[in-house]
Amino acid sequence: MQDYDPHRRNLLIAAAAAGVAAVGPAAAQTRTDAGVKVLDGQPMPEPPPDKSAGPVRPARGSVLNGKLAVVTGAARGIGRAIAVELAANGADVVALDICGPVSPASDAAPATPEELNDTVGQIRNYGRRGEGIKADIRDVAALREIADRIEHDYGKVDIVVANAAIQGWRPLLEMKDSDWRDVIENNLNGTANTVRAFAPKMVARGKGRLILLSSMQGKHGTKDAANYCASKWGILGLMKSAAMEFGQYNITVNAIIPGLVDTPLTRHEKRLTESMAETGRKPPAAPTPQEAWDWRAPTVPLKVGWLQPDDISPVAVFLASDAANMVTGAEYEVTGGDSAKDV
Ligand SMILES: NC(=O)c1ccc[n+]([C@@H]2O[C@H](COP(=O)([O-])OP(=O)(O)OC[C@H]3O[C@@H](n4cnc5c(N)ncnc54)[C@H](O)[C@@H]3O)[C@@H](O)[C@H]2O)c1
Repeated sequence: MQDYDPHRRNLLIAAAAAGVAAVGPAAAQTRTDAGVKVLDGQPMPEPPPDKSAGPVRPARGSVLNGKLAVVTGAARGIGRAIAVELAANGADVVALDICGPVSPASDAAPATPEELNDTVGQIRNYGRRGEGIKADIRDVAALREIADRIEHDYGKVDIVVANAAIQGWRPLLEMKDSDWRDVIENNLNGTANTVRAFAPKMVARGKGRLILLSSMQGKHGTKDAANYCASKWGILGLMKSAAMEFGQYNITVNAIIPGLVDTPLTRHEKRLTESMAETGRKPPAAPTPQEAWDWRAPTVPLKVGWLQPDDISPVAVFLASDAANMVTGAEYEVTGGDSAKDV
C-alpha cells in the first residue's frame, strides 16, 4: 500500500477538479469527505486515483471523450444502439459485424453490410471516428488481427462490448446436434474469443473495459431455447471469472442483462408466443404483436411489453465511463422491472 500523503491526495483531487472545466461551468467538487482521515491517530489508507471513481465531477458517468470502443454485432439492434450511444458521448467506435448469415440455428434474418454502414454513419454524425469491420466472432485468429490493426491505427483499445449473438427456437428433444453446437459456438465461444483477442491490448496498457451482453435468459430457464439460455448463463461465468483474473490489470468486466427488447432477434412469432406464456396463460397460436404487448405490459412493473435498444445502451456508457472505475464482476439488468420477479 502506498504511503499516506494527504497533501498529495489533495493535489490529485484539485487536478481532477480542474479537468471539470472541459465539461461545464458547474462547481468543481472535492472528494465529499476529503481531509485528513484518521482512526485512533492512524491515517486511513487511500487508493491511488485509478483505483477509485472519485472525486465527484459533473458527467463523469457519461463522458467518453478520447476513448476508443469496439462493439461486436453492431450492424443493428442493441449493438448498434450501444455503438451510437458511445459515440454520442465522445468515443470513437469500431463497429464489427458478420453482416450475413451466421447459422441455420438462427431464426433471425441476417444483418447486411448496408446496416453496418448505417451504424457507422450514425457514429460519424456525432463527429466521432467511426469504422465498420466485417468479421465473424467465431474466428479468433481474425479477431486477433483486428485487435492488432485497431491498436496500430488508433493507438489503443479502451472499451470492448461483446454483443454479437444468435437465437433459434427448438425443443431440446428436436434439436439437431448442429443447433446446439452452433449457438454455443457463436454466443459463448464467440464472446470468449472477443475477450481473449482484445484483453491482451488492455493488459499491456494497464486499463480497459469489457462489457458482455448476457440476457434474462441467462438467469432463468427458457422453454425451447436451452442452447441460447446455456450460452447466456455461460457468459455470466466468463464475465465473473475474467473480472477476477483481470482486476490486477485495472480492467473491469461486467455484463448487461437486457429483458425483452424489440430487435430483429426477437421480432419473431415464437419469441412473442413464449413471452406471452411467461405471463402464465396459454397464448393463441399466432398472436399479433399488439396482443403480445397487451398481455405482457400489465405484468411488467414499468408497464411496457418490451424495451427498445436505446433503453439498454445508457448502461454501457456508464460501465465504460470513469464513474464505473470500481464496478467489476457485476450484472446490470435493464428489464423495465421484469427481473424484479426473479431471485
Ligand atoms: N433483443 C432482446 O430481447 C435481447 C434480450 C436479452 C439479451 N439480448 C442480447 O443482446 C445482444 C444483441 O441482440 P439483438 O437483439 O440486438 O440481436 P440482433 O440479431 O438484432 O443483432 C445481433 C447482431 O449480431 C451479429 N452477429 C451474430 N453472430 C455474429 C458473429 N458470429 N460474428 C459477428 N457478428 C455476429 C448479427 O449479424 C447481428 O447484427 C445479443 O447478445 C443478445 O443475446 C437481446
